[in-house]
Amino acid sequence: MAKMMRQVKTLGLLGTGVIGGGWAARALHFGIDVLAADVKPEMEAWIRGAVENAEGALSRLTFAPLPPKGKLSFTTDLAAMARQVDFIQENIPEQLELKQRVLAEVSHHAASDVIIASSTSGLMPSDLQRDMAAPERFLVAHPFNPVYLLPLVELVGGNATSPEALDAASRFFTEIGMHPLKVRREIPGHLTDRLQEALWREILHLVNDGVATTGELDDSIVYGPGLRWAAMGTNLIYHLAGGEPGMRHMLKQFGPCLKWPWTKLEAPELTEQLIDRMVEGTQAQANGRSIREIERLRDDYLVAIQQVLRQYNIGAGSTLRALEERLYERNGAAARAGSGAAAGEDCAQPLRLIETHVRPEWVDYNGHMTDSRYLQVFGDATDALYRSVGVDDAYRQSGRALYAVESHMTHNAEAQALEPLYVTTRVVGVDEKRVHLFHCLHRRRDDALVATGEHIYLHVNSTAKKAAPMDPAVRAKLEKIHTAQAALPAPVQVGRHVGMPRS
Ligand SMILES: NC(=O)c1ccc[n+]([C@@H]2O[C@H](COP(=O)([O-])OP(=O)(O)OC[C@H]3O[C@@H](n4cnc5c(N)ncnc54)[C@H](O)[C@@H]3O)[C@@H](O)[C@H]2O)c1
Repeated sequence: MAKMMRQVKTLGLLGTGVIGGGWAARALHFGIDVLAADVKPEMEAWIRGAVENAEGALSRLTFAPLPPKGKLSFTTDLAAMARQVDFIQENIPEQLELKQRVLAEVSHHAASDVIIASSTSGLMPSDLQRDMAAPERFLVAHPFNPVYLLPLVELVGGNATSPEALDAASRFFTEIGMHPLKVRREIPGHLTDRLQEALWREILHLVNDGVATTGELDDSIVYGPGLRWAAMGTNLIYHLAGGEPGMRHMLKQFGPCLKWPWTKLEAPELTEQLIDRMVEGTQAQANGRSIREIERLRDDYLVAIQQVLRQYNIGAGSTLRALEERLYERNGAAARAGSGAAAGEDCAQPLRLIETHVRPEWVDYNGHMTDSRYLQVFGDATDALYRSVGVDDAYRQSGRALYAVESHMTHNAEAQALEPLYVTTRVVGVDEKRVHLFHCLHRRRDDALVATGEHIYLHVNSTAKKAAPMDPAVRAKLEKIHTAQAALPAPVQVGRHVGMPRS
């Protein structure tokens, strides 16, 4: 079998509708080039519009330093696409024969170490890979709409799929901020659509029987279980429902209900009357709003929810947190390599730890970078320094952290939208509980000093919420940087206070 797998620089998309467009937006945002292929030439305009539409919410998902955006190209020549890309994601209509035929054709043009994955919502991978060349590199990678904001992707192998292909695909999806969930055994509908379908069938019954409207049924989830589901699934939630003895008690108490037929599951007949009720119900819920408007609202709250969950390191929030860790680490490594100074080694110069640019959404009504973003960039530089001396997620989880207790910024020159920037950092002082840092934000085009930030951090035991000595190894690394930089002239802004000049 061909060696797995290539570094994915270019993602090929087969079919560029709703799901293809979502894959494109996600991949481009995280620095992967996309070559999109569809039989309909008019889909080029469509996919470009879809990517643009996704950008607003995506750009607010994380402020961690991202690689430069990928480039989007389009073709109607499926074979040419297959020859040029490192990974192919198929998103054509959900018809077994069509998918089988197109996958087989494309597989003969793609090198055998190019993974080919299908977005199918419920078809079985063994059926899909039947006529393919090198079927061991094929798997199902089932995403969720909107692909650019929901991290879940179900990975399912067929009879011929190799474990290496599943692992390699899993690494690629993790790289672009997703949560790959390996499904142990192929079944129609994988895992999530099995669960969604059960709920959906019950909804159709309740509407058909005139028990509730579509809006009432949505309320029954949105105001209750839906809130829990964002971070804990039915099983863990039911474990809590059993009180102190947990799941065992829960099953004892509610187990007998399983014998009462609460649910039907066998779907009702899709009569014209039922279709009308579903359509009228959802139109009433949309209340005159267009699909685009509702999508934007959905995207905005999906971003906000993930940012909240990140604080709790749970569900999609832990995926986001892990992604940000990698982005910060990579940015720090690139910046250190660029400046030729690895923290703690050659650090006689200010350390260049952050490379970034002024994101369009950081700009205020004057066209300049907004005040609060300066503090954010300095915070990122502080994090990069701390990470390089051993204050990482594991350190924080051990109940130790460095808290900001004082900050002072000066503003010296303008930074405009998209302006490339970098930060240099000096360790001005360190003792067993305190670190004194001085950051300079520079424009890359002329190295002009844009702003300075001076900060004192206190080392704390975050469980006891008290100042506490830092780890001796961390302190030693900070001391080393401090000593190496001690011969540099002190920046004029160090030790300044806020105030009008005294006459
Ligand atoms: N829509 C969802 O919520 C969702 C979620 C997860 C997975 N999926 C799965 O993703 C796949 C695509 O669904 P969608 O909603 O994006 O469909 P869609 O109808 O929006 O897009 C399908 C695209 O495939 C193109 N196409 C048709 N035949 C083709 C061919 N031979 N070669 C290349 N392109 C071709 C069409 O022109 C169209 O642009 C399906 O398998 C579906 O089950 C959909």
